[in-house]
Amino acid sequence: MGKDKLRKFKENETFSCLVQPRTDEVLGRDYPLKGHWGEKMFGSSRPIVVELGCGKGEYTVDLALRNPGCSYIGVDIKGARLWKGARYAHEHSLPNVAFLRTRIEFIESLFGPEEVSEIWITFADPQIGREKKRLTSPLFLARYRNFLRKGGIVHLKTDSRYLHEYTRAIAVQNGLEILAASTDIYGRASGKVLSGSFFENGAAPVSADDLVASSAYQHLLSSPLASVCGKDAVDALFQVQTFYESQYLAQGIPITYLAFRIDHQGDYVSPEWEPDRWLPSGR
Ligand SMILES: C[S@@+](CC[C@H](N)C(=O)[O-])C[C@H]1O[C@@H](n2cnc3c(N)ncnc32)[C@H](O)[C@@H]1O
Repeated sequence: MGKDKLRKFKENETFSCLVQPRTDEVLGRDYPLKGHWGEKMFGSSRPIVVELGCGKGEYTVDLALRNPGCSYIGVDIKGARLWKGARYAHEHSLPNVAFLRTRIEFIESLFGPEEVSEIWITFADPQIGREKKRLTSPLFLARYRNFLRKGGIVHLKTDSRYLHEYTRAIAVQNGLEILAASTDIYGRASGKVLSGSFFENGAAPVSADDLVASSAYQHLLSSPLASVCGKDAVDALFQVQTFYESQYLAQGIPITYLAFRIDHQGDYVSPEWEPDRWLPSGR
């Protein structure tokens, strides 16, 4: 292992906002923080929002800075990536940010019933041909249902049309309520933005003019998502970007978005859809 990685792993151990359970602490058993994140981690009963596969944690931190009324937990298995967000949260003493280093497969051992209000899935691997590993498959939705509060929202932001269409199909197939959907949120703004995240300069990467001119923005403003979460949440969708997102944007690759609820009785079933139609065409 490289020196830099070792240094980050060592530093990670000093961050109180970073929780790193061992496998034997979460494999088939409940971790002590399960059901107690509010009181034990944040000392607050603010709603909790979780980002799955958060990478370096830009989205988690940026949302937390904008919304002090919620607590944010970024989840990823890669410690060297989490280090960046965790170090920022630690150095700035952010009261509403935590990171969790674990495999998402263990998530039910880490959160209790109704403990989480919203889930963000940002630029996850589409796992083409490996449905069971896909973060929006029936298997994973059933896991999320065990800790997402009733009426809680799952947000999926991705460059993968395959993952977007699959997830939309699974929502339709299972009668899940879709609050918003767009296959190209930035529209004409794609490829031109790119001031990076708060780590660099904190600037809003998409200008207000670009936003207002975007038909996707207008569409989302009139969607049920805006009624449920408010205009600020729609604005944030455009103004807060993950590391991967800013790279795809720079290349002009469309960014898709889907928001849905997972309330459902019984098992979730796989969708009937046309996977071949949405396979990536060698970009
Ligand atoms: C393509 S990166 C996206 C990172 C970040 N969301 C972004 O947009 O910049 C996907 C991330 O998901 C994490 N990941 C993938 N599968 C995971 C799993 N089963 N458990 C935990 N993390 C996982 C990877 O470690 C990686 O950091």
